[in-house]
Amino acid sequence: MSGPRAVVSRASGFSRLSRAARLRKLRELVALSAASEAYLSGDGGLSFEEAERMSENVVSTFGLPLGLGLNFVVNDREYVVPMAVEEPSVVAAACNAARMVRACGGFRAEADPSVMTAQVELEGVPEPDLAPPRLAARRADVLRACDAAVPRLVARGFGARDLEARVLDREEGVVVCDLFIDVGDAMGANLVDTIAEAVAPLIGEIVGGRVGLRILSNLPLRRRVRVTCELSDDVLGGPEVAVAISRASRFAELDPLRAVTHNKGFLNGVDAAAIATGQDFRGIEAGAHAFAAHGGVYRPLSTFSRTARGLLGRAELPLAVGTVGGSTAAHRGVRAAFEILQVESARELAGVLASVGLASNLAALRALATEGIQKGHMRLHHRKDAPPAAQSREVTLGGEP
Ligand code: MEV
Repeated sequence: MSGPRAVVSRASGFSRLSRAARLRKLRELVALSAASEAYLSGDGGLSFEEAERMSENVVSTFGLPLGLGLNFVVNDREYVVPMAVEEPSVVAAACNAARMVRACGGFRAEADPSVMTAQVELEGVPEPDLAPPRLAARRADVLRACDAAVPRLVARGFGARDLEARVLDREEGVVVCDLFIDVGDAMGANLVDTIAEAVAPLIGEIVGGRVGLRILSNLPLRRRVRVTCELSDDVLGGPEVAVAISRASRFAELDPLRAVTHNKGFLNGVDAAAIATGQDFRGIEAGAHAFAAHGGVYRPLSTFSRTARGLLGRAELPLAVGTVGGSTAAHRGVRAAFEILQVESARELAGVLASVGLASNLAALRALATEGIQKGHMRLHHRKDAPPAAQSREVTLGGEP
């Protein structure tokens, strides 16, 4: 990741500005193309023709509010984070938490190389226990065949990295070969599906039996992102608030029912930024919840623990996101979102998304552990029922964004 940029995302009082003033402010923060300016000044969404190219049986399009996550600093870089979400207070909450974290040095994020998992399933394998060693012995041939299916990816320095075979059912000879592919800056679903289909006959030849499914796994265990933040008691509102947040986090560690809601709060931020940047948020959700349950008990993806002078927030999850491919080029709103976010790689994007998740989680725990969530949430919620002119600019979960 490169060094600090000129962009400064801290835009106090942003929520109280008119739309035109917000867009002016955004232009001060990030350089926007004429196309993105036009998109952001309009009603958003897609033309029918664009929508037709993306899906089937299209009769119309479906809009969501696009807000800006402000105050984010990740690895010493400033980010303005586009967030598409219908739930009131998600954006405001993330901004408020990001402001606290920013005052204490920002988020630290680190993402693994973009290694996706492709699966080739085999059935009726005659000697299933010999399949893993047989595949290990032909590892180089299989990886070479994987690479041959995606020459352009390989030319960019990415491609097949490893394989692993597991016996799933000895009686029926069900074996799976997991292929680990570095997909670079793509989310990678199409790349690894192409590889799985191309290499399956060779794998079948090596281990015998019939080739079954050939598809990615949405639990990319080798594509994880880790994020941390440290907060002082002062910035949180005192040591009692820090203790209350750590207790709220502990509740999620003790109880899977609570952990699900805790993770939902974390994913509020991840999904909003993922949707704005055109990511496969269903894949993200599937992977995140599977990872949460991976140890056999459903656990929180993030925790906040007490330190001598405040709190340490930590999160880890698999995150398959891309800056190229998918709808990143097909959707004008997504292109505008990338101009706003200014990330240079899929790994950087993963770090920002996880930071937004941790911010959302922190804001939720802070509200829950102090005044409760409803006061601020309902104030924003009721805004939906008011006629546009009467709508308040108030925002909540700890102040304005
Ligand atoms: C609401 O969208 C999210 C929360 O329920 C998260 C949580 O309980 O931690 C407030």
